[in-house]
Formats: sequence, C-alpha cells, structure tokens
Amino acid sequence: MTEKELIKKAKEVRTKAYAPYSKFLVGAALLTEKGKVYTGVNVENASYGLTVCAERVAVFKALAGGERNFKKIVIVTDTDKPKSLCGACLQVLSEFASDLEIICATLKGDKARYRLRELLPKAFKRMSTER
Ligand code: THU
Repeated sequence: MTEKELIKKAKEVRTKAYAPYSKFLVGAALLTEKGKVYTGVNVENASYGLTVCAERVAVFKALAGGERNFKKIVIVTDTDKPKSLCGACLQVLSEFASDLEIICATLKGDKARYRLRELLPKAFKRMSTER
C-alpha cells in the first residue's frame, strides 16, 4: 500500500462524511502493521457534542476488525493548507501507536507530515499499576 493509494482511499471515503452542520468533510485512511486499511469519515449529530471525527471512526473500525497496531494515518480535507488532527483523536491514536506516521493532505495535493509523538508529546498513558 503506497502513500498515494492511501491518500486516494481517504479522498474517496471523504465524500461519505456525514457533516450537515459544519459542511466540513473529513476522510481518513488508517494503515495497520499487517497492511490492511480502515477508512473513516466524520459523523455529526443534531446534538453537536456527539460528533465523532474521521480519525476515531477509522481507529474504532480497525479495532473491531481485530487490529491494534498501526503504521500510518492519512487525513484529507478540502482546505488551503493541510489540517492537523484534534487533541481527542491524537489521544485515542496514542493508545495504540506511540510514533504513528501522520500525513495531512488537502484535496489539491498539499501535504504535511508529522509523527504522533511530535503532535502529542505528553500523551496520557495507562498507569503502570493498572491492569
Ligand atoms: N473533524 C474531524 O473529522 N477530524 C479532525 O481532526 C478535526 C475535525 C470534524 C469534526 C466535525 O464534524 C468537523 O470536522 C468540523 O469540526
């Protein structure tokens, strides 16, 4: 799975975003260590606070598919500059991948590359005494 293919998948799925309130469509494609891809879109709700971001939808789908080790995530938005991820999604991703590769892309083809550790250097981790 090349980066180009991953971006294509995020672009394609983005059109399925349910965002009637913000009209801001986000597509995500998450590549697992095993080479499988799980896509996600943002899903909004009339009760605005219930909205779930595209990134978390992709992570939850992957977990339900039995995968917990992730390599790369691509996020696509229709913006002038690539958009970063929200803090909640970074925290959820950090539960499963401490140094995930993150590619934020625009529909026009602009790209920004990050590592999860760069965007969330002080992620809250499970306490060592917990099981
Ligand atoms: N959104 C995402 O899907 N991912 C992000 O990283 C940030 C924001 C969504 C949530 C909401 O549906 C819309 O974008 C506007 O905030």
